[in-house]
Amino acid sequence: MTEAALTAAGVDSYLSKEAKQQPQWPDAAALRRTTDRLTQVPPLVFAGEADRLREQLAAASRGEAFVLQGGDCAEIFAEATADRIRNKIKTILQMAVILTYGASTPVVKIGRMAGQYAKPRSADTETIGGVTLPVYRGDIVNSSAFTPESRIPNPERLLDAYHVSASTLNLIRAFTQGGFADLRRVHQWNKGFSANPAYAKYEQFAKEIDRAVRFMAAAGGDFDALKTVELFSSHEALLLDYERALTRIDSRSGLPYDCSAHFLWIGERTRQLDGAHVEFLSKVHNPLAVKLGPTATSGDAIALAERLNPDNIAGRLTFVARMGAGKVRDALPSIVEGVRDAGLAVTWLTDPMHGNTYTSESGYKTRNFDTILDEVTGFFEVHEALGTVPGGLHVELTGDDVTEVIGGTEKIDDEGLARRYETKVDPRLNHQQSLEMAFLVADLLKKHRPEREEIF
Ligand code: PEP
Ligand code: CO
Repeated sequence: MTEAALTAAGVDSYLSKEAKQQPQWPDAAALRRTTDRLTQVPPLVFAGEADRLREQLAAASRGEAFVLQGGDCAEIFAEATADRIRNKIKTILQMAVILTYGASTPVVKIGRMAGQYAKPRSADTETIGGVTLPVYRGDIVNSSAFTPESRIPNPERLLDAYHVSASTLNLIRAFTQGGFADLRRVHQWNKGFSANPAYAKYEQFAKEIDRAVRFMAAAGGDFDALKTVELFSSHEALLLDYERALTRIDSRSGLPYDCSAHFLWIGERTRQLDGAHVEFLSKVHNPLAVKLGPTATSGDAIALAERLNPDNIAGRLTFVARMGAGKVRDALPSIVEGVRDAGLAVTWLTDPMHGNTYTSESGYKTRNFDTILDEVTGFFEVHEALGTVPGGLHVELTGDDVTEVIGGTEKIDDEGLARRYETKVDPRLNHQQSLEMAFLVADLLKKHRPEREEIF
């Protein structure tokens, strides 16, 4: 019944297009059994929630809110533990507090969480010590262990991805709705950290927020709104068999939504106009994002907007610029200008991570904290010059004390990377670097939106 309605809504039109970055499944029947099963399971998110996020992204496109999207490059099934998920949520919420309080701006919070399991790769194989195996494509496809068995794409993993996403979302909902995220607990989130300047500064913010809250309470304020926060889920919609199988018809509107996450994005490697990813996502009604790298043109951006958002609905389409610090000031202006002049409603985010990856002398894939900040600064400068709106930040982070990104006040250096380098794909800001980044971005935002100062 539902499947018939989905087919009638045209969600299978992508099947006739080229889909890049898909695994070679060795057993088509086994894949089919799994995707059939996934068409029967309950949705992970609800269409009404996705609509609410679209409204908030629309506010960000107008400069009335700022988006913070963060989480792992690649989530790992075995790491979906209560501690690690809580640390990640806490990091995002702390960053959001810093941005909200520091720049007097509501923050739209989105995790790269509960579904970020499929990775695009630059090569199909990986060679170590003369042995060549299929590349690791994320836990939803195969395992990162370098053995022939673990690298075989296994469709059972699609079901695992669904279940781990469900348990992660369950924890997200519990933490954000069940009291943990209460703004009156901002102090507690900081407990147990060292005397690093970022933590000291956070503590100062927490004290000021406490005072403001106590003042409001004394004045008879109603604090129910402070008890909960909304944290939306997002991932790259890369593995189309999975995304299609989790697509449902919204009973209220009769429209298809991809219920694997609230917010879905198309990566830099799969954004071809005539490709399967653009085709599939043009048919679902979630808010969407497309990554734009330094080779993108304003013509590409305008054509993508016409395909993905033909009715020009604010909040439906976000562009995530990931140009690289050395290119953002040259490559981004003509794109933003073209989109502006075409009158397109778009939310602009900066991803200062993916254009700034390099291999350190000791051989680690890393990024430099100052370079990351420089790209964010360039992004703000471009929007300042064009009179457009810098709508948000997209970062790879973890709540743990890993050592994957060089720099920050901890001054992690090349040697220091070896201490705790855990990522399976891209290097992430650790907890402390994430808070530092939030303070610096709050300053940029405050400078860009000075009129907000008048509120106080
Ligand atoms: C990512 O976000 O992890 C990623 C692969 O990004 P991009 O498509 O921008 O390279
Ligand atoms: Co990444």
